[in-house]
Amino acid sequence: MNVFESAAIGSIALSNRFIRSATAEGLATSQGFCSAPLTTFMVRLAKGGVGMIITGHMAVNSEGRAGNRQLCIWHDDYLPALMDMTRQVHETGGKIVAQISHAGIFANTSVTGEAAMGPTIRQQSDATICREMTSIDIRKTVKAFAKSSYLVKETGFDGVQIHAAHGYLLSSFLSPHYNSRRDEYGGTAENRLRFLLEVVQAVRASTGGSFPVLVKMNANDFLANGMCIDDMIYTAAALEAAGVTAIELSGGTLESGGMIPARPGSIKPENEGYYKEEARYFKEKIGIPLILVGGFRTLSVAEKFLHDGICDFIAMARPFICEPDLITRWKNREQNYSSCNSDNLCYRPVHAGKGLYCLTQVRKKTKPRA
Ligand SMILES: Cc1cc2nc3c(=O)[nH]c(=O)nc-3n(C[C@H](O)[C@H](O)[C@H](O)COP(=O)(O)O)c2cc1C
Ligand code: SF4
Repeated sequence: MNVFESAAIGSIALSNRFIRSATAEGLATSQGFCSAPLTTFMVRLAKGGVGMIITGHMAVNSEGRAGNRQLCIWHDDYLPALMDMTRQVHETGGKIVAQISHAGIFANTSVTGEAAMGPTIRQQSDATICREMTSIDIRKTVKAFAKSSYLVKETGFDGVQIHAAHGYLLSSFLSPHYNSRRDEYGGTAENRLRFLLEVVQAVRASTGGSFPVLVKMNANDFLANGMCIDDMIYTAAALEAAGVTAIELSGGTLESGGMIPARPGSIKPENEGYYKEEARYFKEKIGIPLILVGGFRTLSVAEKFLHDGICDFIAMARPFICEPDLITRWKNREQNYSSCNSDNLCYRPVHAGKGLYCLTQVRKKTKPRA
């Protein structure tokens, strides 16, 4: 399998097997509208040769917002600016999928102005209380995902990705670490999956049969009593049966210490592809395409993963922050690696409301000469 050959995810024709994994850009307006800098950012990525872009998580409703300047998609007013973005990405030959999300226990209460909610009541690290969702909350949230995905399709995105990873709302329901409910949404694997399956079915119904519906989920939570590999296979098999087009495997939550989704610290080639073993298991059991994310930094490693059939597509997040044209460079054999050292400094400008950029690169450029 050649990494630079064209490939398909449902009806999406990709020019190669590299995908930009969802990366919150923090470049929307303070009201959650797409901005000119965000459109420029996406066009730059598309011109840089990546086969498909997945947007940073877009909030499906006000209470599900994770941060400042996050893209939102729950009413028509958001559409014109987003349509301009998808049009410009398509004009360069790029493909773009919208990731839709509810942050759940990780909702940013200073942005939402209300208590976070999740599967089970808990005290948050900032001492606030995350309330337990009622069945009415669950029904409302399913509808919110359905409406958002409808708007995603209307906007001209090539597909939608449901964020069910990293401990965000749908992921927390899957995880026995977070979910100790005693109703039909907690307890057994079947019950913990119910909310996500209801969302998938509602999204399918609102977008129509052939629209690509992807899911990002955890291979492993890396938490005591967290989601494990058997849960992952059970969930993936049910998603396949429900007509999901492809699954992106990630892992960890914001509370998984050194095993958070964007693991800090430089990565040796032999450690790239954090979820390699889980991916092998997935490929043995599940038939739909597997997109694998997590620590890929070297072209030859990506080539080997695809050649060995460990996954079907390689997704990266941080490498595209410092080198949006990485795939063109790799294709032209200008380099075999990514310049990203995985120090995670790029989170800082996002949290400071300045939008995503590689702080390490900026610091190197501005370092005074000795
Ligand atoms: C600044 C930043 C923002 C991120 N935002 C998202 C997001 O919106 N949705 C998501 O699913 N993952 C998000 N991630 C996680 C990445 O998609 C990816 O799973 C993780 O960084 C590991 O891949 P990498 O080693 O190629 O960076 C983010 C990561 C970073 C560094
Ligand atoms: S700041 Fe730059 S080098 Fe550091 S992880 Fe982010 S993209 Fe990579």
